[in-house]
Amino acid sequence: MTILVTGGAGFIGSNFIFYERAHHPEDRIVCVDKLTYAGNLSTLAPVLNDPMFRFYKTDICDRKAVYAIFEEEKPDLVVNFAAESHVDRSIENPEIFLQTNIIGTAVLMDACRTFGVGRFHQVSTDEVYGDLPLDRPDLFFTEETPIHTSSPYSSSKAAADLLVMAYHRTYDLPVSLSRCSNNYGPYQFPEKLIPLMIANCLSDKPLPVYGQGLNVRDWLYVEDHCKAVDLVLRKGAVGQVYNIGGHNEMRNIDIVRLICQELHKPESLITYVTDRKGHDMRYAIDPTKIHRDLDWLPDTKFSDGIVRTIRWYLDNRDWWGEIVSGEYQSYYERMYGNR
Ligand code: NAD
Ligand code: TYD
Repeated sequence: MTILVTGGAGFIGSNFIFYERAHHPEDRIVCVDKLTYAGNLSTLAPVLNDPMFRFYKTDICDRKAVYAIFEEEKPDLVVNFAAESHVDRSIENPEIFLQTNIIGTAVLMDACRTFGVGRFHQVSTDEVYGDLPLDRPDLFFTEETPIHTSSPYSSSKAAADLLVMAYHRTYDLPVSLSRCSNNYGPYQFPEKLIPLMIANCLSDKPLPVYGQGLNVRDWLYVEDHCKAVDLVLRKGAVGQVYNIGGHNEMRNIDIVRLICQELHKPESLITYVTDRKGHDMRYAIDPTKIHRDLDWLPDTKFSDGIVRTIRWYLDNRDWWGEIVSGEYQSYYERMYGNR
C-alpha cells in the first residue's frame, strides 16, 4: 500500500511516519509538506534515504501540484496532518489558517475524489469543541459534543471537519476524522507550551505563563496519538469521528513547575504575562469510543513521557537550537516582547 501523509515534516506527522515505518514496513510512505516555519526536513533525516519513502515539497493548496502527485503516486490511503497549528499565530493573523486548514483540506479531498482512494483521514483537534468550565470536572468532550470554537485556529479546523463530513455525505468519499487532545514529545516546535518552557529553562530565560496558569489541557504522548491515527485509518469505520485522549488533565502552571523541577531550575523563572485573547479554560476528552471500538488505550504515562521528552530536548539541542535562532526570534519578540 502507498500512504500519502501531508504535514509529515511537522511534529505529529514526522512521528507518524516513523511509527508507520516501524510498524508497517511493507507500506510505502509519500510525504507532502510545504516546509513552512514549522516544517523541518532535517526531522525526516532518518527516512530520507529509505526506498519506501518519498518526499514532495508542495503546498496542499496547490491544486495542480497535488493532482500531479496523486497521478504519479496513486495513494491508497491519505492522512492529512498539514495545518497551521498555533493558536497564538492564528490570533495574530488568521488568513493563512483559512487557506491551509480549509482550502488545503478541500483540495486534498478533491484529489481523492478525482483519483479514488480507500480512505481520507483528517487529523483534527479537541479544540473544535470549544472549552469546558473549570468547576465542572464531570464534563468531557464526546463525539456528540457540538462544535463551538473560540480561536481562528479552532474555527478553521472545525470548518475543515464540516467539509470532510459533507464530502462523505455528498460524494460518498470514504473519510474518517479524529480529534485529539494536546500532544507532547520529540520534534514539537518550541513555540508550544512544553518545548518552549524546556528551551527557555535551559537558557535560563523567563517562563511566560499566560494569565494565572490555571487553564487545563489533556496531554497525550505523541506516539499514542500516532497509534490511534494508524488504527482509525486501517480499522476505523468510514464516516466516523473518533476522539483521542488519555485522561491526563493538568493545569499549565503545574506543567511548568514540573519542568523546572526536572531541569533543576528555580521557579523564580516563572513570569505571569497577559492572558491569551479568548483563552480556552479546559479541554478534556472522553475516549470511550476509540477504546470500545478499536481497543485503543495510551501506553505512555505522563510521568514517563515528560521525562523522555525533556531528555530528548537535552539530547537534541542542535535540532531546536537552529529553530530558535531563525524566524522564531522575531516571532518571539512580537509575541512576548511587550506582554
Ligand atoms: P506542526 O505545526 O508541527 O506541523 C504542521 C506541518 O504542516 C509542518 O510540517 C508544515 O510545514 C506543514 N504545512 C503547513 N502548511 C502547509 C501547506 N499549506 N501545505 C503542506 N504542508 C503544510 O503541527 P502538529 O502539531 O504536528 O499538528 C499536526 C496536525 O495535528 C494539525 O492538523 C493539528 O491541527 C493537529 N493536532 C495537533 C495537536 C497538537 O497538540 N500539536 C493536537 C490535536 C490535533
Ligand atoms: P499551546 O501549547 O499553545 O497549545 P493550545 O493552546 O493549542 O492548547 O498552549 C497550551 C497551554 O499553555 C494554553 O493554555 C496556553 C498556555 N501557554 C502559556 O501559558 N504560555 C506560553 O508561552 C504558551 C505558548 C502557552
